[in-house]
Amino acid sequence: MPETHVVILAAGQGTRMKSSLPKVLHPVAGQPMVEHVLRTAGSVSPVTITLIVGHQAAAMREFLGGRQGLQFALQQPQLGTAHALQQAEALLAGRTGTLVLLSGDVPLLSAATLRTLLETHHAAGAAATVVTALAERPYGYGRIIRTGGRIARIVEERDASPAQRRVREINGGIYAFDIAPLFDALRVIAARNAQGECYLTDLIAVYRRRKLPVETLVVDDPNEIRGINSRSELAEVSSIMRQNKNEELMAAGVTIVDPASTYIDPDVEIGPDTVIHPGVVIQGHTRIGSACEIHAYVRIADSELANRVTILNFCLIVGARVADEAAIGPFAHLRPTTEIGQGVKIGNFVELKETTLGAGSKANHLSYLGDATIGAHVNVGAGTITCNYDGQKKHKTVIDDGAFIGSDTQLIAPVRIGKGAYVGAGSSITEDVPPGALGIARGRQSNVEGWVERQKSNASNTEPRTRTRKPEPGTGN
Ligand code: UD1
Ligand code: CA
Repeated sequence: MPETHVVILAAGQGTRMKSSLPKVLHPVAGQPMVEHVLRTAGSVSPVTITLIVGHQAAAMREFLGGRQGLQFALQQPQLGTAHALQQAEALLAGRTGTLVLLSGDVPLLSAATLRTLLETHHAAGAAATVVTALAERPYGYGRIIRTGGRIARIVEERDASPAQRRVREINGGIYAFDIAPLFDALRVIAARNAQGECYLTDLIAVYRRRKLPVETLVVDDPNEIRGINSRSELAEVSSIMRQNKNEELMAAGVTIVDPASTYIDPDVEIGPDTVIHPGVVIQGHTRIGSACEIHAYVRIADSELANRVTILNFCLIVGARVADEAAIGPFAHLRPTTEIGQGVKIGNFVELKETTLGAGSKANHLSYLGDATIGAHVNVGAGTITCNYDGQKKHKTVIDDGAFIGSDTQLIAPVRIGKGAYVGAGSSITEDVPPGALGIARGRQSNVEGWVERQKSNASNTEPRTRTRKPEPGTGN
């Protein structure tokens, strides 16, 4: 097999996006569209990958730089796709083999198609192979003009005659080239178009004149070569990518109740017999085990859920790990580096941050637990708050196994509740509670007998106009 080199065109402004962000950095299913292209490029193990940058080149380099094997070539000004490819010449000097040209704005191309492109190209001994498809709506794409069944040239939409516009075979903007004759032929186009844009698509006619063999690979699914030029196409392509992911998961045994409203990023893994209800968003590098149930309107990002986990409605879970059989929500918020043990129950309006809960522990209602290490079988009562922040620093709370924290307790960190200890409801705990002890820290209750009756008789003996202050409860008068 000859060496493979990939060049990705990404220098254009993407005028039709009307954006200050370079077009190819707009996210599709959670990742910049060019990231999808880079990944597909990587699948054929190229010797080099060259990204052609121009518009906002600095932002592009900053965002994508530092990756192994990725080099940048600057196209300034941007004079068209042929001119863009010319900018790779110096970086590929002395190289032989195959140049695969990809477009930074065509993110749905599959690795399988890219492999087939290389196979077709080599099998045919072609100088160039063009990826095409038969499109329902060819508008906007270059059209493939064939003579005697063979590709003769490509005509851009704006240059096409009415008859050519009716051609449904479109140019995907993805090609394999034998490197040897390529850059010399590109110079012909550049010279001819000294003023205007130089179209890479004109190369096909040049090749035919030079008797260089040109092949096509017609892909079955025209979606694979959909380009993104506008926000509307961005939404369409994103939706296709989501659909593909949902199909893949369903084929692997995941129930997705309403695929149209389910948003799962490409890298997410989900085990069989897990059920995903409507309106769920699962992002980043999330892994979910089998037989879990994710109820409606939950967002999970970069988290790990083991098996048989239940997430009730309206939870936000980011950067957390949840063990088998835990139940979370509704309305819970798990923030980064939260670790939920086996069978733990986290109920409504509970927020967790950098907190660990051991197996079988419960925090069922209205709590904030931050920077806390909580053991196994701990009961955290409703309204418990770890006061972890003193205005400057964060402090740790430790609650050992089997402790019971009464409702409406403030644990003023740093503080430790010993094994099996109890904390009385309504306490403000500022000192450690030893194992097995009861910690209680609240104002003592006093009952004033007959207070209500006395208030009533005081009121009827006093002229309403002369009364200037209301009686205060607890003062005894
Ligand atoms: C191009 C093709 C068209 C094809 C379509 C497929 C040409 C002339 N036309 O049209 O036949 O059907 O793609 O999606 O090639 N770019 C540069 N430098 C430039 C101009 C563009 O790097 O000077 C980059 C863009 O950033 C983009 C890619 O090349 O990633 C394609 O450019 P774009 O302007 O989107 O071309 P299309 O009009 O879509
Ligand atoms: Ca395009």
